[in-house]
Amino acid sequence: MTTAIYPGSFDPITNGHASILRSGLVAFDKIIVAVLNNDSKHPLFSVEERIDMIQESVVDMGADPARVEVDSFHGLLVDYVKSKNARVILRGLRAVADFEYELQMANMNRHLNDEVETVFIMANDAYFYVASNLCKEVTRLGGDVSKLVPRPVAPKLRAKLGM
Ligand SMILES: Nc1ncnc2c1ncn2[C@@H]1O[C@H](COP(=O)(O)OP(=O)(O)OP(=O)(O)O)[C@@H](O)[C@H]1O
Ligand SMILES: [Mg+2]
Repeated sequence: MTTAIYPGSFDPITNGHASILRSGLVAFDKIIVAVLNNDSKHPLFSVEERIDMIQESVVDMGADPARVEVDSFHGLLVDYVKSKNARVILRGLRAVADFEYELQMANMNRHLNDEVETVFIMANDAYFYVASNLCKEVTRLGGDVSKLVPRPVAPKLRAKLGM
């Protein structure tokens, strides 16, 4: 059985993330969505809120809940991967913007632990430009992102931003 760890901020989960998760479930038996617990990024949602939204989104998208675990981690990602007895990190790749950063991270993680491999899935063209930051910014300015985030997320995003 191959388990992949899908790490990120997920602040909040978007349809871009959901699409990577759906594709990842074609390639892997189990995916652990791992929410990065890092206050220095000043997240909008708490780790608990982000985990809840991911779990609700997994149900909403009809994914097999037995194949998706939602967890949080802090510290070195490769140490977390090892603690889960996994060897694969799953990441999504959007346009050129992600490439340099992702290449750097994948190589650093390989340097730290060469038994762990990073696997990339190309972004779905429908969500190529979707990022959590942009969804928050647009909602804050009164725009509608309900087609860009999972159904359970849209009302929570508006409520959190007082819109
Ligand atoms: N729309 C998308 N399509 C494909 N992959 C994505 C998409 N959005 C994020 N990802 C990938 O998901 C992983 C986690 O990303 P992250 O939590 O930083 O989301 P983000 O949308 O980039 O958030 P932020 O805007 O806060 O940086 C990364 O590998 C990222 O490239
Ligand atoms: Mg990002």
